[in-house]
Amino acid sequence: METKILPVDSVSLKLARDIITEGGAVAFPTETVYGLGANAFSEEAVKNIFSIKGRPNDNPLIVHVHSDYDISTLVSYVPDYAKKLAKKFLPGPLTLVYKSCNKVAKAVSCGLDTLAVRIPSHEGAQRFLRYVDMPIAAPSANISKHVSPVSAEHVYTDLNGRVGLILDGGRCTGGIESTVLDCTGEVPVILRSGLVTRGMIADAVGACEVYKMREGEAARSPGMKYKHYSPDCKTMLFEDATEAVDEYFRQTANGVKTYIMCDGATARGLRVENILNLGDGAEEIAAQLYEKLREGERVAQLIIAVSPKQRDGVMVGVMNRLEKACRGQ
Ligand code: TXA
Ligand code: MG
Repeated sequence: METKILPVDSVSLKLARDIITEGGAVAFPTETVYGLGANAFSEEAVKNIFSIKGRPNDNPLIVHVHSDYDISTLVSYVPDYAKKLAKKFLPGPLTLVYKSCNKVAKAVSCGLDTLAVRIPSHEGAQRFLRYVDMPIAAPSANISKHVSPVSAEHVYTDLNGRVGLILDGGRCTGGIESTVLDCTGEVPVILRSGLVTRGMIADAVGACEVYKMREGEAARSPGMKYKHYSPDCKTMLFEDATEAVDEYFRQTANGVKTYIMCDGATARGLRVENILNLGDGAEEIAAQLYEKLREGERVAQLIIAVSPKQRDGVMVGVMNRLEKACRGQ
């Protein structure tokens, strides 16, 4: 299959709609990461997404809709706090999980009785979703377990030959996936941290919990149990920059092409040649993280990451990705 990369315009949107209505998949930009979308009403089209990515079939997908789509046709109950959150943060990088009314294909939620819904704010995403005017089931447009894509080129690297069309909407400004928030209980519960933080949610509706999986319990957000976000090279994570530098010189002396990945302030204090600088401030670090992990896998055999000191707000989501990228290595 030939993979076209086209800017979002009337020609590419028509092609996208043709592919989607025929049961195919289209990659499209969002403000967080690129998505790989298919018709959420079609069992076959949704299963195709899992096979393109090599995704485990117990990891449910998010349904994406444009900002005027009537989500009451997809879910059975929307609590008041979710309405408030939607008003405040949507369209934007926040996914809300509701009780489903089983209108979309079963494969979307992998047998769960809930449905995750997202309204992305990216202009290209909105145009695509309006043009097809149907709910689009879409995971991130990477091969399963690899780093999520934040540019059309990243999608092409992973899915060349597996997808017919990549809508190119430029670099994603958010850089990490949306916050996933369970809205099926009395109080909202964060299942995956992101750019809309616990503090922002609690400020808006008075309370917000963070899900912690207990021993022996089935994962409430099955995606969280998998290894994720990993570059195709070795990675190590250090709390302490001095230890990271020691390791860098040890590895380099052994002939291992090594880069240190760290925030801007740490980078300015390092006397090493190979640095992947994530920049300063949580938002910038989030925006650069996947770009730098992918840059790193192209040039390095080993990435030594130094965890940023800050641990609150958006940094919670960043640290969660960084720890997973380095897990078990
Ligand atoms: O920013 C994003 O959310 C991106 C863009 C493309 O929109 N999408 C994304 O999709 O990150 P994906 O498939 O890579 O991650 C979806 C996450 C997984 O952790 C999955 O387990 C969780 O959402 N999820 C989906 N449906 C769920 C449900 N019904 N209940 C609990 N968690 C759910
Ligand atoms: Mg993903």
